[in-house]
Amino acid sequence: MMTEETTTMSERTRLTYENKVILAPMVRICTLPMRLLALDYGADIVYTEELIDWKLLRSFRRVNDVLKTVDYIDNTDCTVTFRTCSRERDKVVLQIGSCNATRALQVAKMVEQDVAGIDLNMGCPKLFSIVGKMGAALLQTPEVATNILKTLVDNLSIPVTCKIRVLPDLDKTLELCELLASTGISAIAVHGRTVHEKPQHANRNEILKRISEKLSIPVIANGGSKDIQKYSDIFKFKEVTGCSSVMLARAAQWNCSIFREEGLVPMEDVIKAYVKYAVDCDNPPSNTKYCIQNILREQQESALGKKFLNSQTLEQICDVWELSDYCRTKRMEFEEKGLLGRSQVSPMRDEDKQDEDQSSGKRKISDDEDVVLMHCAFLRNNYATDIELPKTVLFKWTQTHRKRMPHYDTQRKGKLFRSVVTVDGRKFGSSFWEKNKKWAEQGAALVCLFSLSLVSEKALIASGSILS
Ligand SMILES: Cc1cc2nc3c(=O)[nH]c(=O)nc-3n(C[C@H](O)[C@H](O)[C@H](O)COP(=O)(O)O)c2cc1C
Repeated sequence: MMTEETTTMSERTRLTYENKVILAPMVRICTLPMRLLALDYGADIVYTEELIDWKLLRSFRRVNDVLKTVDYIDNTDCTVTFRTCSRERDKVVLQIGSCNATRALQVAKMVEQDVAGIDLNMGCPKLFSIVGKMGAALLQTPEVATNILKTLVDNLSIPVTCKIRVLPDLDKTLELCELLASTGISAIAVHGRTVHEKPQHANRNEILKRISEKLSIPVIANGGSKDIQKYSDIFKFKEVTGCSSVMLARAAQWNCSIFREEGLVPMEDVIKAYVKYAVDCDNPPSNTKYCIQNILREQQESALGKKFLNSQTLEQICDVWELSDYCRTKRMEFEEKGLLGRSQVSPMRDEDKQDEDQSSGKRKISDDEDVVLMHCAFLRNNYATDIELPKTVLFKWTQTHRKRMPHYDTQRKGKLFRSVVTVDGRKFGSSFWEKNKKWAEQGAALVCLFSLSLVSEKALIASGSILS
């Protein structure tokens, strides 16, 4: 899907915000498949969904050689927080939710090499954001917002922007925009509704016009989706607001081909193209389903829509649009290449890295401190109810071979666990931190079974249990 990226930071083209048509940040919608689709149809810049700083900070970066993506994986639950690829690197803007300059900078530094710009969300009115002093709460604390923006501008090599909502008062809005612009940001996106206004309220295009007249940096107009049914409407919105660029959320959510100069393509074609990207990116079925539901909207009531609503896996979703063969072929290709399952990626912390074989970069069984150690996760989903769990298999083996019962020693760090099992005088353990004690013990048992040749390496890799 994607090609190898070799450009250094200094060689990269700096993103600009003049005359651009932009995919707006949308939670759960703007994951990699939708961003790639928007680029295909003609979007110039694509924003990610809002990613909260502390969630990104507990993630680690991992190059996914099978998908040809860069993944940021949550250390606590192994889910992908952010997936990106070289195709979008010079066009993707990562939007952060933050109320803290230090955290925001840490996040931005972490992803700087993989994205084209950083945006600060200053418009989200959701309780979660307000309570966390993020999003629209920053409209009330401009000193916090300017500190974050200035810190980012001063320390990053990529452009920084923010996305706000208008305030009820025009002068206060203009004042705020000027203050934010003074931090050195490259552009400001403005949604022409106040925090308390709903999507059905008219967008305050005249305020956007006043802001664009006042500021010397590009202003990105947002909030016009209700009146944007076709490509040319985008430019009407641009003209009415006098802004440098236009950012679309709902119009793109409903039919992403709104970015297509030659005109909209039928919904079914959009869905098929989206589903293919979902497969290519190994996107979680739940997220894929959510995005398709937002394309289908009232069509969910149709026979096809009902069949779709009953689907649960990516393959079932593909089947609705006769893409099962595509899905199966891709899956086989990924499996052959050793793709780790979506939720089956082992976190690799610094202390774990010491257990890795540095010379080969491959997994290693080390005999340090007499413990046979592997980086091996216990993946509960791999064991159907009729399949014996590693601990049971190991227990039976000790009985058959007249050995002592396995003895487990479990170490706890915060909310995570790892275990060492002693069998026949030898110790076996996994360097993978599990979410509970039982799984940590199962992981250790798995390492022991592997060492006793009761589980093959191939089986472990195929199940995603060990980090290849
Ligand atoms: C499903 C959905 C999710 C959204 N998530 C975000 C978000 O993560 N960050 C953000 O700044 N705005 C978010 N928004 C607001 C949009 O980016 C945009 O400001 C708003 O929908 C108005 O633009 P539109 O008329 O083009 O839809 C979201 C909107 C929708 C519909």
